[in-house]
Amino acid sequence: MALKITVIGTGYLGATHAAAMAELGFEVLGLDVVPEKIEMLAAGRVPMYEPGLEDLLARHVAGIEGSSGRLRFTTSWEEAGAFGDVHFVCVNTPQKHGEYACDMSYVDAAFASLAGVVQEGALVVGKSTVPVGSALRLAGLLPEGVELAWNPEFLREGFAVQDTLHPDRIVVGVSEGAGGERAEKVLREVYAVPVAEGSPFVVTDYPTAELVKTSANSFLATKISFINAMAEVCEAAGGDVAKLAEAIGHDERIGSKFLRAGIGFGGGCLPKDIRAFMARAGELGADQALTFLREIDSINMRRRASMVEMAREALGGGFLGKRVAVLGATFKPDSDDVRDSPALNVAGQIHLQGGQVTVYDPKGMDNARRLFPTLGYAPTALDAARGADVVLHLTEWREFRDGLDPAELASVVTSPVILDGRNALDPVRWREAGWTYRAMGRPRA
Ligand code: UDX
Repeated sequence: MALKITVIGTGYLGATHAAAMAELGFEVLGLDVVPEKIEMLAAGRVPMYEPGLEDLLARHVAGIEGSSGRLRFTTSWEEAGAFGDVHFVCVNTPQKHGEYACDMSYVDAAFASLAGVVQEGALVVGKSTVPVGSALRLAGLLPEGVELAWNPEFLREGFAVQDTLHPDRIVVGVSEGAGGERAEKVLREVYAVPVAEGSPFVVTDYPTAELVKTSANSFLATKISFINAMAEVCEAAGGDVAKLAEAIGHDERIGSKFLRAGIGFGGGCLPKDIRAFMARAGELGADQALTFLREIDSINMRRRASMVEMAREALGGGFLGKRVAVLGATFKPDSDDVRDSPALNVAGQIHLQGGQVTVYDPKGMDNARRLFPTLGYAPTALDAARGADVVLHLTEWREFRDGLDPAELASVVTSPVILDGRNALDPVRWREAGWTYRAMGRPRA
């Protein structure tokens, strides 16, 4: 009999995981404690913009015409407990208010509820990003005869469907002994399709599996802050960080990915994960090992401030009475997520210093408006730029990179000055159309 799977927590990670499990052929029941979320998902809709996810849901959600019917949703723990052979816990672990540490209350609550309903012999699989040591503690909350595995998730927003269906690795942390062996066997069955396609399957103990996730995110954050530090040096020395990144990226040991200098990283993962990692290392007495992450964080936050300074300089020294167009509000393209978005942070700082800011983003307008209702918003890039004294390109949507016509935009602004906070526009094209183009870590031309 095919395994029956529940997915607890149907946010970004859970909704995608549930749909992907149905796509792999399993019967899936998604559970969330928020009834509105469940209603939406049961109608095949998702509360965020994620390419391909609604199509995947529509292929499987029961009750949608032509669907496999393998995916259903509920708010009932009893139903989930009775249904599942394997329970994936996908609830979120945000940063605690006023602290670096991560807030485990959703994970703890999910395990407490699950412990009361889970069937003997079932497998619980944690996917949430948690401080190292959590899996061992959580395993102790489950009843006798219920095994726990830790299986971190590496999906990127904007590529969530692809990353879940074709992961570049599957990491599984299990307990020692027969229980761990059984957990590994069950997860090999769950992931049989991607493993057959060639995804490496790495089996570890609990702490290593937990650490794989936080160390991977720390490495990515370090790579971005490294190139941003080089951008600062390039600015001081008159070098070009884009050329530098291209050149060092040819070294296979370095690689060219995640070397785009600009206003830095944001989003719901990298910033909070490196902070929670530092906090946890402190608790373990290993804080010295991660003090460098403090520097990674400061380099990153400094980028936002230097973008504001670059804009101030372009405006002759102050924002008062100046019109600033901001292209991009989300923390990265192909997402509507504005959590800790460098773009919105810069827009907010300029607004608070007296600038008249008008923002346009292809998908993030509603979320941005909710977070920063006092900023101005325009329905198109052209409208945002109308009358602007400076244009800031802060999220590298394709619509901006390929869709903007520099000549047309020049015809609506007050002054054709563009500051590229993502090093993603073609300087030659913009300069040829009469623009003053400036980017972080690059010569003024
Ligand atoms: C990240 C990890 O990549 C993923 O594996 C993990 O599961 C969750 O966290 P995500 O938050 O979706 O994924 O964003 P990511 O694509 O990693 O980008 C993070 C930030 O770094 C964005 O703000 C992006 O604009 C910025 N970035 C990325 C740069 O500034 N320069 C780069 O070269 C690459």
